[in-house]
Amino acid sequence: MKKTVLSGIRATGRLHLGNYLGAVKGMLELQDNPEYETFYMVADVHTITTPYDVQELKRNRREVIIDYLAAGLDPEKSVIFQQAEVPEHLELAFYFSSVVTIARMQHLPTFKEKVKQYPDNATMALLNYPILMSADILVYKAGLVPVGIDQEPHLEIARVIANNMNSAYGTDFPEPVRFATRGEYVPSLTGEGKMSKTVEGSFINITDNLETIKSKVAKMPTDSGSGTIPAEGPEKGSAIGTVLSFVKLFQGEEKAEEYKKLYMSEGIRYGDLKRELAEAIYEELKPLQEKRKELESNPEYVDKVIKEGAERARAVARKTLIEVKEKMGLL
Ligand code: TRP
Repeated sequence: MKKTVLSGIRATGRLHLGNYLGAVKGMLELQDNPEYETFYMVADVHTITTPYDVQELKRNRREVIIDYLAAGLDPEKSVIFQQAEVPEHLELAFYFSSVVTIARMQHLPTFKEKVKQYPDNATMALLNYPILMSADILVYKAGLVPVGIDQEPHLEIARVIANNMNSAYGTDFPEPVRFATRGEYVPSLTGEGKMSKTVEGSFINITDNLETIKSKVAKMPTDSGSGTIPAEGPEKGSAIGTVLSFVKLFQGEEKAEEYKKLYMSEGIRYGDLKRELAEAIYEELKPLQEKRKELESNPEYVDKVIKEGAERARAVARKTLIEVKEKMGLL
């Protein structure tokens, strides 16, 4: 039997390099492996758990699908869909909410962080975020979830729910585990923390053109260009450390070593380094941007993918709902 995979990205903006290297590359790897049945969605409903703009959400839930397709997600191989088109997720989430306690949800570090970030918007939707995420995964009985390590507390909730449902109602939900993508940690351009669409100046969008990438890279903080690098590697968060992480990701280990040597001898000329780095980043994104242009000129095709994806996802989700409702005495 094929193993089932589900993943999603919130529709808070366009995809950036962090999503692309951290999540989408993992999704692609599993999609191309015939052992897996892959479901990839835009988590548009999750987007409403924090303050958002209606028009922006409307646009982004489609744009992320286009980004997925441009990056190589293939409707012939994966079910690609928008979460809101499959209301079974929401229904299942409500049933799931009956097998976890309020206290358990309130103690999640991800919940606490968001409450700190939006103190006036600590809504029930936010508290329910991980329950909906559990439903996203378990409605397809997916056992494997390619996501970043920051999502681990949510997967733990999904395992608790699967377990509790199975013992209370005799369902056969798997306990989902994280599929660690090659661990590409993409730092913020600012040098602090990871690349994030909610931090200004931290990200490069996968649709940025060469000029934009050049100007964003040019703004990365740098030091004098020479000094000593600690034996255990460049300090995390230091200017040279951040720059070298990007060099490694886009120009390879060897190039980073060359720069390291330069740094400890005659010094690095950051102007040259940054120009080359920006070009390397653009090279990686160019094919994707070309594919995106094609897709933009073919809205009927995108509509078709969205419609068919929803139908295929619903067919599977509906089966699980019928089973759960029967077992819970609701059918
Ligand atoms: N919480 C995930 C994130 O912020 C997005 C998400 C929603 C998701 N539902 C999911 C990821 C289900 C994997 C599986 O990245």
